[in-house]
Amino acid sequence: MRNIIDVVDLSKDEIKELIETALDIIENPKKYSTSCAGKKLATLFFEPSTRTRLSFEAAMYELGGNVLSVTGSDTSSASKGESVSDTAKVVSCYADIIAMRHPKEGSAYVASRSASVPVINAGDGGHCHPTQTLTDLLTIYRQKGRLDNITIGFCGDLKYGRTVHSLINALSRYDNIKVVLISPEELRLPGYMRYGVLDKNNVSYREVSDLESALKELDVLYMTRIQQERFASREEYLRLKDSYVLTAEKLSLAKSDLAILHPLPRVNEISVDVDKDPRACYFKQVLNGKYIRMALILKLLTEKDSPSLLQRDESLIKGIKCENPRCITSTEQEIEHLFKLVDKEKGIYRCVYCEAKVEK
Ligand code: NCD
Repeated sequence: MRNIIDVVDLSKDEIKELIETALDIIENPKKYSTSCAGKKLATLFFEPSTRTRLSFEAAMYELGGNVLSVTGSDTSSASKGESVSDTAKVVSCYADIIAMRHPKEGSAYVASRSASVPVINAGDGGHCHPTQTLTDLLTIYRQKGRLDNITIGFCGDLKYGRTVHSLINALSRYDNIKVVLISPEELRLPGYMRYGVLDKNNVSYREVSDLESALKELDVLYMTRIQQERFASREEYLRLKDSYVLTAEKLSLAKSDLAILHPLPRVNEISVDVDKDPRACYFKQVLNGKYIRMALILKLLTEKDSPSLLQRDESLIKGIKCENPRCITSTEQEIEHLFKLVDKEKGIYRCVYCEAKVEK
Protein backbone atom coordinates (compact mmCIF):
# COMPACT_ATOMS: atom_id res chain seq x y z
CA MET A 1 0.00 0.00 0.00
CA ARG A 2 1.26 3.38 -0.99
CA ASN A 3 1.13 6.72 0.87
CA ILE A 4 2.06 10.11 -0.56
CA ILE A 5 3.39 12.15 2.36
CA ASP A 6 6.09 14.06 0.53
CA VAL A 7 6.57 14.60 -3.21
CA VAL A 8 9.81 12.59 -3.07
CA ASP A 9 7.71 9.54 -2.22
CA LEU A 10 7.26 9.49 -6.00
CA SER A 11 10.13 8.78 -8.38
CA LYS A 12 10.77 11.03 -11.38
CA ASP A 13 9.46 8.26 -13.64
CA GLU A 14 6.25 8.06 -11.65
CA ILE A 15 5.81 11.84 -11.89
CA LYS A 16 6.27 11.59 -15.65
CA GLU A 17 3.67 8.82 -15.74
CA LEU A 18 1.21 10.92 -13.65
CA ILE A 19 1.67 13.89 -15.98
CA GLU A 20 1.05 11.63 -18.99
CA THR A 21 -2.11 10.22 -17.40
CA ALA A 22 -3.34 13.74 -16.56
CA LEU A 23 -2.77 14.84 -20.17
CA ASP A 24 -4.69 11.79 -21.39
CA ILE A 25 -7.55 12.57 -18.96
CA ILE A 26 -7.69 16.12 -20.35
CA GLU A 27 -7.94 14.70 -23.91
CA ASN A 28 -10.26 11.75 -23.16
CA PRO A 29 -12.28 12.43 -19.98
CA LYS A 30 -14.97 9.84 -20.86
CA LYS A 31 -12.41 7.03 -20.84
CA TYR A 32 -11.92 7.57 -17.09
CA SER A 33 -15.47 8.32 -16.00
CA THR A 34 -16.06 4.98 -14.27
CA SER A 35 -12.46 4.08 -13.36
CA CYS A 36 -13.10 4.39 -9.60
CA ALA A 37 -16.75 3.26 -9.52
CA GLY A 38 -17.61 1.75 -6.15
CA LYS A 39 -14.62 3.37 -4.40
CA LYS A 40 -14.75 6.05 -1.70
CA LEU A 41 -12.36 8.90 -1.01
CA ALA A 42 -12.42 10.46 2.48
CA THR A 43 -11.31 14.09 2.63
CA LEU A 44 -10.29 15.02 6.21
CA PHE A 45 -9.59 18.73 6.33
CA PHE A 46 -8.73 20.08 9.77
CA GLU A 47 -7.56 23.38 8.28
CA PRO A 48 -9.28 25.74 5.80
CA SER A 49 -9.21 24.85 2.11
CA THR A 50 -11.12 25.66 -1.05
CA ARG A 51 -9.11 24.39 -4.00
CA THR A 52 -7.37 21.38 -2.52
CA ARG A 53 -10.45 19.79 -0.96
CA LEU A 54 -12.81 20.60 -3.82
CA SER A 55 -10.33 19.46 -6.46
CA PHE A 56 -9.83 16.13 -4.66
CA GLU A 57 -13.60 15.70 -4.45
CA ALA A 58 -14.23 16.80 -8.06
CA ALA A 59 -11.42 14.43 -9.15
CA MET A 60 -13.03 11.46 -7.38
CA TYR A 61 -16.50 12.25 -8.79
CA GLU A 62 -15.07 12.54 -12.31
CA LEU A 63 -13.52 9.09 -11.87
CA GLY A 64 -16.97 7.74 -11.01
CA GLY A 65 -16.20 7.33 -7.28
CA ASN A 66 -17.81 8.73 -4.14
CA VAL A 67 -16.65 11.09 -1.42
CA LEU A 68 -16.94 11.20 2.39
CA SER A 69 -15.92 14.52 3.87
CA VAL A 70 -14.90 16.00 7.23
CA THR A 71 -14.16 19.71 7.35
CA GLY A 72 -12.87 21.48 10.45
CA SER A 73 -11.91 19.88 13.75
CA ASP A 74 -15.00 21.39 15.43
CA THR A 75 -17.39 19.10 13.50
CA SER A 76 -15.46 15.84 14.03
CA SER A 77 -14.26 13.82 17.02
CA ALA A 78 -10.97 15.76 16.88
CA SER A 79 -12.85 18.39 18.96
CA LYS A 80 -13.38 15.71 21.62
CA GLY A 81 -9.66 15.00 21.73
CA GLU A 82 -9.41 12.10 19.27
CA SER A 83 -5.84 11.57 18.05
CA VAL A 84 -4.82 11.67 14.39
CA SER A 85 -3.86 7.98 14.63
CA ASP A 86 -7.27 6.93 15.92
CA THR A 87 -9.09 9.08 13.36
CA ALA A 88 -7.05 7.45 10.57
CA LYS A 89 -7.83 3.95 11.85
CA VAL A 90 -11.54 4.75 12.04
CA VAL A 91 -11.77 6.39 8.61
CA SER A 92 -9.96 3.39 7.06
CA CYS A 93 -13.06 1.34 7.95
CA TYR A 94 -15.22 3.51 5.68
CA ALA A 95 -13.02 4.73 2.83
CA ASP A 96 -10.64 3.24 0.24
CA ILE A 97 -8.30 6.24 0.25
CA ILE A 98 -7.78 9.30 2.49
CA ALA A 99 -6.68 12.85 1.66
CA MET A 100 -5.85 14.74 4.86
CA ARG A 101 -4.94 18.34 5.72
CA HIS A 102 -3.92 19.19 9.27
CA PRO A 103 -2.20 22.18 10.91
CA LYS A 104 0.56 20.14 12.55
CA GLU A 105 3.78 19.23 10.72
CA GLY A 106 4.16 15.47 10.37
CA SER A 107 0.44 14.76 10.87
CA ALA A 108 0.00 12.98 7.53
CA TYR A 109 2.90 10.65 8.30
CA VAL A 110 1.32 9.82 11.67
CA ALA A 111 -2.02 9.11 9.94
CA SER A 112 -0.34 6.88 7.35
CA ARG A 113 1.24 4.74 10.07
CA SER A 114 -2.10 3.70 11.47
CA ALA A 115 -4.38 3.85 8.41
CA SER A 116 -5.03 0.65 6.48
CA VAL A 117 -5.74 2.50 3.22
CA PRO A 118 -3.48 4.91 1.26
CA VAL A 119 -3.05 8.38 2.81
CA ILE A 120 -2.34 11.46 0.71
CA ASN A 121 -0.92 14.50 2.49
CA ALA A 122 -3.05 17.50 1.47
CA GLY A 123 -0.86 19.85 3.55
CA ASP A 124 0.69 19.28 7.00
CA GLY A 125 1.21 22.68 8.63
CA GLY A 126 4.08 24.62 7.05
CA HIS A 127 5.85 21.39 6.08
CA CYS A 128 4.81 19.88 2.70
CA HIS A 129 2.02 19.82 0.14
CA PRO A 130 2.88 17.16 -2.46
CA THR A 131 -0.31 17.32 -4.55
CA GLN A 132 0.03 21.08 -4.99
CA THR A 133 3.50 20.31 -6.33
CA LEU A 134 2.13 17.78 -8.83
CA THR A 135 -0.29 20.54 -9.90
CA ASP A 136 2.61 22.99 -10.25
CA LEU A 137 4.70 20.49 -12.23
CA LEU A 138 1.83 19.77 -14.63
CA THR A 139 1.35 23.52 -15.09
CA ILE A 140 5.05 24.16 -15.74
CA TYR A 141 5.12 21.22 -18.15
CA ARG A 142 2.04 22.43 -20.05
CA GLN A 143 3.38 25.98 -20.26
CA LYS A 144 7.04 25.25 -21.00
CA GLY A 145 7.04 21.73 -22.47
CA ARG A 146 9.82 20.70 -20.06
CA LEU A 147 10.78 20.34 -16.41
CA ASP A 148 14.56 20.58 -16.96
CA ASN A 149 16.45 23.81 -17.76
CA ILE A 150 14.23 26.13 -15.77
CA THR A 151 15.15 29.28 -13.86
CA ILE A 152 12.48 29.69 -11.21
CA GLY A 153 11.97 32.49 -8.68
CA PHE A 154 10.08 31.79 -5.44
CA CYS A 155 8.76 34.99 -3.94
CA GLY A 156 7.16 35.75 -0.55
CA ASP A 157 6.89 33.54 2.50
CA LEU A 158 9.53 30.90 1.90
CA LYS A 159 9.72 29.98 5.58
CA TYR A 160 6.15 28.80 6.16
CA GLY A 161 5.05 28.23 2.53
CA ARG A 162 4.68 24.45 2.32
CA THR A 163 3.98 24.56 -1.42
CA VAL A 164 7.39 26.19 -1.92
CA HIS A 165 9.15 23.48 0.09
CA SER A 166 7.54 20.67 -1.86
CA LEU A 167 8.11 22.24 -5.29
CA ILE A 168 11.80 22.91 -4.53
CA ASN A 169 12.14 19.32 -3.38
CA ALA A 170 10.62 18.04 -6.62
CA LEU A 171 12.50 20.34 -9.01
CA SER A 172 15.86 19.61 -7.34
CA ARG A 173 15.82 16.24 -9.08
CA TYR A 174 15.68 17.73 -12.60
CA ASP A 175 18.66 18.94 -14.67
CA ASN A 176 19.89 22.51 -14.81
CA ILE A 177 17.41 24.04 -12.39
CA LYS A 178 18.33 27.50 -11.14
CA VAL A 179 16.49 28.87 -8.12
CA VAL A 180 16.17 32.48 -7.00
CA LEU A 181 14.79 32.77 -3.47
CA ILE A 182 13.10 36.17 -3.06
CA SER A 183 12.00 36.91 0.50
CA PRO A 184 12.50 39.23 3.46
CA GLU A 185 15.29 38.10 5.81
CA GLU A 186 12.71 36.88 8.38
CA LEU A 187 10.94 34.58 5.88
CA ARG A 188 13.93 32.83 4.31
CA LEU A 189 13.75 29.20 3.22
CA PRO A 190 14.39 26.90 6.25
CA GLY A 191 17.84 25.36 6.68
CA TYR A 192 16.60 21.82 6.11
CA MET A 193 15.59 22.92 2.62
CA ARG A 194 18.72 24.97 1.82
CA TYR A 195 21.28 22.45 3.09
CA GLY A 196 19.26 19.24 2.99
CA VAL A 197 17.73 19.72 -0.48
CA LEU A 198 19.35 22.48 -2.58
CA ASP A 199 22.96 21.97 -1.48
CA LYS A 200 22.62 18.21 -1.34
CA ASN A 201 21.38 18.08 -4.94
CA ASN A 202 23.90 20.71 -6.16
CA VAL A 203 21.13 23.07 -7.27
CA SER A 204 22.38 26.53 -8.06
CA TYR A 205 20.51 29.13 -5.97
CA ARG A 206 20.79 32.60 -4.54
CA GLU A 207 18.82 34.54 -1.95
CA VAL A 208 17.71 38.10 -2.66
CA SER A 209 15.22 40.50 -1.12
CA ASP A 210 14.29 42.42 -4.27
CA LEU A 211 11.75 41.07 -6.79
CA GLU A 212 12.36 43.60 -9.58
CA SER A 213 16.05 42.84 -10.00
CA ALA A 214 15.40 39.08 -10.26
CA LEU A 215 12.44 39.26 -12.67
CA LYS A 216 14.22 39.51 -16.00
CA GLU A 217 16.06 36.18 -15.77
CA LEU A 218 13.08 34.01 -14.73
CA ASP A 219 11.25 31.36 -16.79
CA VAL A 220 8.80 30.75 -13.93
CA LEU A 221 7.79 33.06 -11.08
CA TYR A 222 6.14 31.32 -8.12
CA MET A 223 4.36 33.93 -5.99
CA THR A 224 3.09 33.07 -2.49
CA ARG A 225 1.04 34.74 0.19
CA ILE A 226 2.49 35.61 3.60
CA GLN A 227 1.11 32.78 5.80
CA GLN A 228 -0.61 34.82 8.50
CA GLU A 229 -1.85 31.77 10.45
CA ARG A 230 1.66 30.41 11.04
CA PHE A 231 3.13 33.52 12.68
CA ALA A 232 3.69 33.45 16.44
CA SER A 233 3.54 37.30 16.52
CA ARG A 234 0.83 39.38 14.86
CA GLU A 235 3.12 42.45 14.85
CA GLU A 236 5.65 40.57 12.75
CA TYR A 237 2.93 39.50 10.30
CA LEU A 238 1.70 43.10 9.96
CA ARG A 239 5.23 44.33 9.34
CA LEU A 240 5.87 41.74 6.60
CA LYS A 241 2.47 41.30 4.96
CA ASP A 242 2.99 43.78 2.12
CA SER A 243 6.57 42.76 1.31
CA TYR A 244 5.88 42.02 -2.38
CA VAL A 245 3.19 43.06 -4.83
CA LEU A 246 3.50 41.98 -8.47
CA THR A 247 1.93 44.57 -10.77
CA ALA A 248 1.43 44.83 -14.54
CA GLU A 249 4.01 47.62 -14.55
CA LYS A 250 6.71 45.49 -12.87
CA LEU A 251 6.01 42.71 -15.40
CA SER A 252 7.42 44.88 -18.18
CA LEU A 253 10.83 43.81 -16.79
CA ALA A 254 10.09 40.09 -17.29
CA LYS A 255 10.54 37.67 -20.21
CA SER A 256 7.67 37.54 -22.70
CA ASP A 257 7.20 33.80 -22.03
CA LEU A 258 7.41 33.96 -18.23
CA ALA A 259 4.89 31.67 -16.48
CA ILE A 260 3.45 33.20 -13.29
CA LEU A 261 2.24 30.59 -10.82
CA HIS A 262 0.58 30.98 -7.42
CA PRO A 263 -0.95 28.14 -5.38
CA LEU A 264 -3.72 30.58 -4.31
CA PRO A 265 -5.40 31.98 -2.28
CA ARG A 266 -4.03 35.36 -3.29
CA VAL A 267 -4.27 38.18 -0.77
CA ASN A 268 -2.60 41.23 -2.33
CA GLU A 269 0.71 39.87 -3.64
CA ILE A 270 -0.50 39.82 -7.27
CA SER A 271 -2.43 42.86 -8.35
CA VAL A 272 -5.62 41.99 -10.30
CA ASP A 273 -4.33 43.95 -13.29
CA VAL A 274 -1.90 41.04 -13.86
CA ASP A 275 -4.77 38.55 -14.39
CA LYS A 276 -5.35 39.53 -18.01
CA ASP A 277 -1.66 39.16 -18.90
CA PRO A 278 -1.15 35.90 -20.89
CA ARG A 279 1.76 35.10 -18.59
CA ALA A 280 -0.63 34.71 -15.61
CA CYS A 281 -1.14 30.94 -15.18
CA TYR A 282 -2.63 30.70 -11.67
CA PHE A 283 -6.20 29.99 -12.73
CA LYS A 284 -5.07 27.40 -15.29
CA GLN A 285 -3.07 25.90 -12.40
CA VAL A 286 -6.32 25.42 -10.42
CA LEU A 287 -7.81 23.29 -13.21
CA ASN A 288 -4.60 21.31 -13.61
CA GLY A 289 -4.92 20.43 -9.91
CA LYS A 290 -8.08 18.45 -10.58
CA TYR A 291 -6.56 16.47 -13.46
CA ILE A 292 -3.35 15.53 -11.67
CA ARG A 293 -5.29 14.49 -8.55
CA MET A 294 -7.44 12.26 -10.77
CA ALA A 295 -4.24 10.66 -12.07
CA LEU A 296 -2.89 10.21 -8.53
CA ILE A 297 -6.08 8.72 -7.04
CA LEU A 298 -6.27 6.32 -9.99
CA LYS A 299 -2.66 5.24 -9.52
CA LEU A 300 -2.99 4.67 -5.77
CA LEU A 301 -6.26 2.76 -6.07
CA THR A 302 -5.19 0.53 -8.93
CA GLU A 303 -1.50 -0.26 -8.45
CA LYS A 304 -0.50 -3.38 -6.59
CA ASP A 305 1.81 -3.20 -3.58
CA SER A 306 4.39 -0.75 -4.78
CA PRO A 307 6.31 0.58 -1.79
CA SER A 308 7.03 4.24 -1.04
CA LEU A 309 10.32 5.52 -2.37
CA LEU A 310 11.24 7.01 0.98
CA GLN A 311 12.08 4.46 3.64
CA ARG A 312 11.01 6.45 6.69
CA ASP A 313 10.93 3.52 9.05
CA GLU A 314 14.58 2.53 8.66
CA SER A 315 17.20 3.16 11.37
CA LEU A 316 15.16 5.48 13.54
CA ILE A 317 16.66 6.84 16.73
CA LYS A 318 14.77 7.13 20.00
CA GLY A 319 15.57 9.17 23.11
CA ILE A 320 15.76 12.65 21.50
CA LYS A 321 12.91 15.14 21.99
CA CYS A 322 11.52 17.31 19.17
CA GLU A 323 11.19 20.90 20.46
CA ASN A 324 9.35 22.29 17.39
CA PRO A 325 6.02 23.63 18.71
CA ARG A 326 4.46 23.13 15.26
CA CYS A 327 5.34 19.40 15.17
CA ILE A 328 2.56 16.82 15.63
CA THR A 329 4.57 15.40 18.58
CA SER A 330 3.91 18.65 20.50
CA THR A 331 0.17 17.95 20.75
CA GLU A 332 -0.22 14.18 20.50
CA GLN A 333 1.45 12.91 23.63
CA GLU A 334 1.37 9.21 22.74
CA ILE A 335 3.52 9.61 19.62
CA GLU A 336 7.04 8.37 20.15
CA HIS A 337 9.66 11.01 19.24
CA LEU A 338 11.80 9.52 16.46
CA PHE A 339 14.87 10.94 14.74
CA LYS A 340 17.16 10.15 11.82
CA LEU A 341 20.90 10.80 11.88
CA VAL A 342 21.48 12.96 8.77
CA ASP A 343 25.09 14.10 9.34
CA LYS A 344 27.27 11.81 11.42
CA GLU A 345 30.32 14.12 11.45
CA LYS A 346 28.41 17.18 12.65
CA GLY A 347 26.01 15.15 14.82
CA ILE A 348 22.85 16.44 13.13
CA TYR A 349 19.58 14.62 13.66
CA ARG A 350 16.19 15.42 12.12
CA CYS A 351 12.72 14.66 13.46
CA VAL A 352 11.03 12.12 11.15
CA TYR A 353 7.72 13.97 11.45
CA CYS A 354 8.59 17.66 10.92
CA GLU A 355 12.32 17.53 9.92
CA ALA A 356 13.32 19.93 12.74
CA LYS A 357 17.05 19.79 13.48
CA VAL A 358 18.70 18.67 16.73
CA GLU A 359 22.49 18.76 17.19
CA LYS A 360 24.10 16.32 19.61
C1 NCD B 1 -1.78 26.67 -0.37
C2 NCD B 1 -1.81 25.90 0.90
O1 NCD B 1 -2.86 25.63 1.46
O2 NCD B 1 -0.70 25.59 1.35
N1 NCD B 1 -2.93 26.67 -1.14
C3 NCD B 1 -3.36 25.54 -1.78
O3 NCD B 1 -3.30 24.45 -1.31
N2 NCD B 1 -3.84 25.71 -3.02
C4 NCD B 1 -1.17 28.00 -0.23
C5 NCD B 1 -1.63 28.91 0.86
O4 NCD B 1 -2.43 28.57 1.73
O5 NCD B 1 -1.14 30.03 0.85
